[in-house]
Amino acid sequence: MKKLSVRDLPVEGRRVFVRVDFNVPLTETGAIRSDARIRAALPTVQLLLARGAVVILGSHLGKPEAKPDPKLSLRPVAEALARLLDRPVAFAPDCIGPQTEEMVSRAGPGSVTLLENLRFHPGETENDPEFCRQLAVLADCYVNDAFGTAHRAHASTAGMAKLFDRPAAGLLMEKEIEFLSRVLESPARPFIALIGGAKTADKIGVIANLLPKVDKLLIGGGPAFTFLAAQGRQIGRSLFDPDLVKRAAELAEDRRLILPADFLVAPDPEQAPKVRPVSAAAIPSAEAAYDIGPATSWLYADVLKSAKTIVWAGPMGMFEKDAFSQGTRTICEAMSLATVRGAVTVAGGGDTLAALDKFGCLDKVSHASTGGSACLEFLEGRKLPGVAVLANAPARRPGRLD
Ligand code: 3PG
Repeated sequence: MKKLSVRDLPVEGRRVFVRVDFNVPLTETGAIRSDARIRAALPTVQLLLARGAVVILGSHLGKPEAKPDPKLSLRPVAEALARLLDRPVAFAPDCIGPQTEEMVSRAGPGSVTLLENLRFHPGETENDPEFCRQLAVLADCYVNDAFGTAHRAHASTAGMAKLFDRPAAGLLMEKEIEFLSRVLESPARPFIALIGGAKTADKIGVIANLLPKVDKLLIGGGPAFTFLAAQGRQIGRSLFDPDLVKRAAELAEDRRLILPADFLVAPDPEQAPKVRPVSAAAIPSAEAAYDIGPATSWLYADVLKSAKTIVWAGPMGMFEKDAFSQGTRTICEAMSLATVRGAVTVAGGGDTLAALDKFGCLDKVSHASTGGSACLEFLEGRKLPGVAVLANAPARRPGRLD
């Protein structure tokens, strides 16, 4: 079901609370390492400003211990946002209370106020009704643009939304739901999924949900070794999850699931000169595999060539190390080529986006999801509380094309 969009809310002169995900990565000295999440929220903020709304932004940053922590203040984010918007952004030193209420009541149309870190109050993660009420009194309308936090049933993502008549999706939230729903519900075929990453536990639910929907599901990274172990193969010292071997064996009965044919192995990841390709049937017992091998890279890239829809979650190997980056690099390039050829290409998860970025392909896919866990839970077919709580879009009248 399509969700009500911020575009359909009458916002002129009204105070609009927008839950954004400004949980940006910080350097050791507290500087913003990537402003990608701030930039991702700009279209919604700019739309609201253009329509004369009073914009009030709320976000969390990190995992403070439910009390103020100067290292996790959103103040530097307010400054970065002001630069990106090229207009002043007022910063509220708290997200609730009389002073904050006074500050937002004085704010005029076309202004932006960023509230301090919502998680400085225990009520945020506890979804406390009184905290929800204190947030809700700040605004006339509610918009959720924080897809990255939509898997959390917190006060600002779920509880407070229920106190508004028509809680709406922001433009980023809308785009995320549109792309991820499209691949799950009506993918153009062939539809190929590619699942890697370090931990099998993070991906087994995604594999189980996607397998019946795809034409082929290509496995790489840590999950590959859990599947090979399920087939009784020798995997040496490669990373695998013994608790998921039985589940992997059940899933591997589906012929759409494809495992790597070869790997790059080494005694340990630091010994680059000793790296060599071996067949999947010949991983030495004293060594571990850290990347898919050249034959698998070629085969996977070839499968992706004819795809019309691709979902990718999880690198193929330890791409941070040059010696084990080739498999993931090949996939990044194959995703870019597929996009140019007109396929819908969707990538999700922090490491996958970091890999696309490293190999210069981040803006060459149709959609790079801003959600890590939220994206994976969506692909697992789970209901995200931050999405479920939003109002449904009104049904279209027959005959109308808009
Ligand atoms: C994220 O970075 O995945 C989101 O901002 C959610 O953050 P959290 O895991 O601290 O809830």
